[in-house]
Amino acid sequence: MSSTPSQFKIIAIDGGAAVGKSSTSKVLAERLDLMHVDTGAHYRTLTAALLADGVQPNDPELDRRLETLDLNTQLAGRSARLSINGVVPEDAAIRSPEVNASVSKFAAIPLIRQALFEYQRDQAEVARQAGFAGLIMEGRDIGSVIFPDAAYRFFLEADEATRAARRAKEGQTDSIADRDKMDTNRKNAPLICPDGAIRVDTGPRTLEEVIEHIIQLIHDQ
Ligand code: C5P
Repeated sequence: MSSTPSQFKIIAIDGGAAVGKSSTSKVLAERLDLMHVDTGAHYRTLTAALLADGVQPNDPELDRRLETLDLNTQLAGRSARLSINGVVPEDAAIRSPEVNASVSKFAAIPLIRQALFEYQRDQAEVARQAGFAGLIMEGRDIGSVIFPDAAYRFFLEADEATRAARRAKEGQTDSIADRDKMDTNRKNAPLICPDGAIRVDTGPRTLEEVIEHIIQLIHDQ
């Protein structure tokens, strides 16, 4: 794997809960030789660490608590994971009902978003250094705030029934609609389809169809 800076691709994938961002991003990372970053996992990891420390979203000492957390990256194949004080938590620990219920409350707090902003932007350099041809980053504010100049920005959508069925299949307890409402209505970096991003409806398409559609859109740009 090697790339020159001019070839380096940044792909932003945004959308609400359970629209298919992770499955799509992982396959695209494989096909296009990209490093994959799931920023939802960042907010979940931070939430799990704070909850484990007894910190609630309204904690007046949140800034002091955040200062004790050392954020770093561990690469597992194409996937770049956030470690906090040297530890990458298990997937089950960041997808628990407790984290599902609190993550959007923490994510609405400017201090929390500030703590992740530089870290997330720096992932482009991590991907370059590791020799990937580019970076695919998924979340809610990637095309609007983190990489507004990314060459490729997609906004994934799906109908409620499809999304609920996807979560049920994963065996997760998750109030998708509540999280989307909080994420859309917050003041800081709300969930929106950024100007100029391409909307992709994943509801009526299989994963393979979504991948082919996006690869075609990338080739056409
Ligand atoms: O993507 P996932 O559903 O795992 O994200 C969990 C939560 O993290 C979201 O509901 C949202 O509150 C927050 N998030 C965010 N900005 C991002 C990614 C996730 O606020 N870029």
